[in-house]
Amino acid sequence: MAKFDRIPKIILDTDPGGDDIFALFWLQSLVKQGLAELIAVTTAGGNVSVEKTFSSASRILSLGGLPNVEVGRGVAVGHSRDDAAHIHGSDGMGNLSSQLPNPIHSYEATRYSEDILIERLNQMPGEITVIAIAPLTNLAAAEKKSPGILKKAKEIIIMGGAFTCPGNVTPHAEFNLWFDSEAAEIVLESRCDLVITSLDITRQLIFTREMAQSIAQTNPESELAQFLLKLCEFMIGTALEYRETNGVSGFLVHDAATLGYLFYPETLLWKRAKVQIETRGEWTRGQTLIDDRNLAKQPANTWIATAIDDARFFTNLTEDLKWLIKFEKT
Ligand code: RIB
Ligand code: CA
Repeated sequence: MAKFDRIPKIILDTDPGGDDIFALFWLQSLVKQGLAELIAVTTAGGNVSVEKTFSSASRILSLGGLPNVEVGRGVAVGHSRDDAAHIHGSDGMGNLSSQLPNPIHSYEATRYSEDILIERLNQMPGEITVIAIAPLTNLAAAEKKSPGILKKAKEIIIMGGAFTCPGNVTPHAEFNLWFDSEAAEIVLESRCDLVITSLDITRQLIFTREMAQSIAQTNPESELAQFLLKLCEFMIGTALEYRETNGVSGFLVHDAATLGYLFYPETLLWKRAKVQIETRGEWTRGQTLIDDRNLAKQPANTWIATAIDDARFFTNLTEDLKWLIKFEKT
């Protein structure tokens, strides 16, 4: 099924994190299969610091075989929010970064993520899909610096929010939109067709040890296979410790849901809604609120995922990761 009239051009905005890393490997597989073009990876602070998310993105691009993709550096947000190192490791990579080659991109020499977004969206208006799997700091910074720039994206796909289920960083808020709620508010007001995969569906996406083993056996001696197995073990450990998966042995690959939509849209169901975010509540800051009572009066600004076929999602994810590993040089 040809979903696209031509392969999607993508900018991935990310804060590696274990689930970001799985999403970036999945995307690299699709690029190497000729199904996508990766224009740039823009990094943000969130799971860990801007320096660490930059280094991780550089390392993962090397490991996945796309070392020449440009990586942007994030700007530190103007507030001190707790990061998610307790879930993802102090380096955001399951504390495995010391086992990988050094980053090949220079943090000091690289451009800021917001400037890459502005330049590329102006160069190719209506052509680039922005996949946002981090706090929305970079997207908001681009919009503030160049008002209307986010409308020049072909599509913006966001992992964030929690509508009919509890949050993960507080009882009411999901981490990405809680970490920089003001940025999220700017992005939610930027266009009327944002695509959001929230905790409502990503809480189903439990990646297991068995899945990792099935992928790794494709090329068990490869560095990539070994890394994925170790990262999976680390993420399963913290997921169990922080009850992310209600005791099921696995971890949630939240961010990969965005790729599930873009490349396998038949695996999700959607609805239109007006989404707003609480930015001031002492107990509810970062909470995302749906108003779908009367979209004629209160126009929608999003498509939100309401269901996902998790079995087919994981078949697609594991097959594409097997493809990447099979062709990785050992
Ligand atoms: O709430 C899930 C999101 O927060 C994911 O992007 C994960 O990487 C964490 O940053
Ligand atoms: Ca993330």
